[in-house]
Amino acid sequence: MPDVDEIKEAKRFYTDKPQQTEGFFLKGSNSLDWGMKNRLARIFNPESGRTVMLAIDHGYFQGPTTGLERIDINILPIVPYADTLMLTRGILRSIVPPSTQKPIVLRVSGGTSILKELSNEEIAVDIEESIRLNVCAMAAQVFIGGEYERQSIINMTKMVDIGTRYGIPTLAVTAVGKDMARDARYFRLATRICAELGAHYIKTYYIEKDFETVCASCPVPIVMAGGKKIAELDALTMAYNAVQQGASGVDMGRNIFQSDSAIAMLQAVRAVVHDNETPEKAFDLYQTIKNQSSE
Ligand code: R5P
Repeated sequence: MPDVDEIKEAKRFYTDKPQQTEGFFLKGSNSLDWGMKNRLARIFNPESGRTVMLAIDHGYFQGPTTGLERIDINILPIVPYADTLMLTRGILRSIVPPSTQKPIVLRVSGGTSILKELSNEEIAVDIEESIRLNVCAMAAQVFIGGEYERQSIINMTKMVDIGTRYGIPTLAVTAVGKDMARDARYFRLATRICAELGAHYIKTYYIEKDFETVCASCPVPIVMAGGKKIAELDALTMAYNAVQQGASGVDMGRNIFQSDSAIAMLQAVRAVVHDNETPEKAFDLYQTIKNQSSE
């Protein structure tokens, strides 16, 4: 406690200078509370306004996915190049060092496997776990048009309600069932429903035609899901097109960890997302880093 006898008279009031109030950089997020904004500002880079999330949560419904068999060996070395790590609590606790400075997006929906109907998910993680694990967002899958559409939407809205109580944002992950058309009309519907019901940001797939209308009609940030593994240049082109057409970043898994050089691919994706690098130049970067790391 300061010595009260030593208190100097306060003079620096700057009465001629209004207090500055910073607007929040992220689309549709200015009315959120401080803790929520602070967590989002750890996921999204305030300078570029974008994020490169590394998704490694696939095991929660499909077991040891190619490239994720040994997360300690294949994934931990590339984590420093990601802005955010999206994963399950099981992998977080068992493999990721608690000293990591990476913001964590925790998968909180689950309860199904590839052997059964995937849309039949529940909330599979208590809010106390998310708080305990110091996560920056919680991810819940939403199956618009799926067999358990309503249940999956309510899973997401419950997370929004509980997360808002503690300042933890909810990421709605739009899953596309086998029978659903992957077109702009579907993704506008899916992303807008998630946003209207309170999701703080939304992960969805890129489509060649009218993706910009998906971003424009969604009032909160969209991050692009990677999808199945394609050639590196094609994946970089997809990420480039997505951010140029309004996405606030990517949440990519297989196109990074199934690449011949995950460490090079992640850095090439960063160049596209944060530096607006062209896909061709980013691919050159990929090849350069890949060759260096194999020397
Ligand atoms: C799938 O449900 C998981 O949320 C994955 O995180 C998501 O599919 C992104 O991974 P990928 O880029 O491999 O599609």
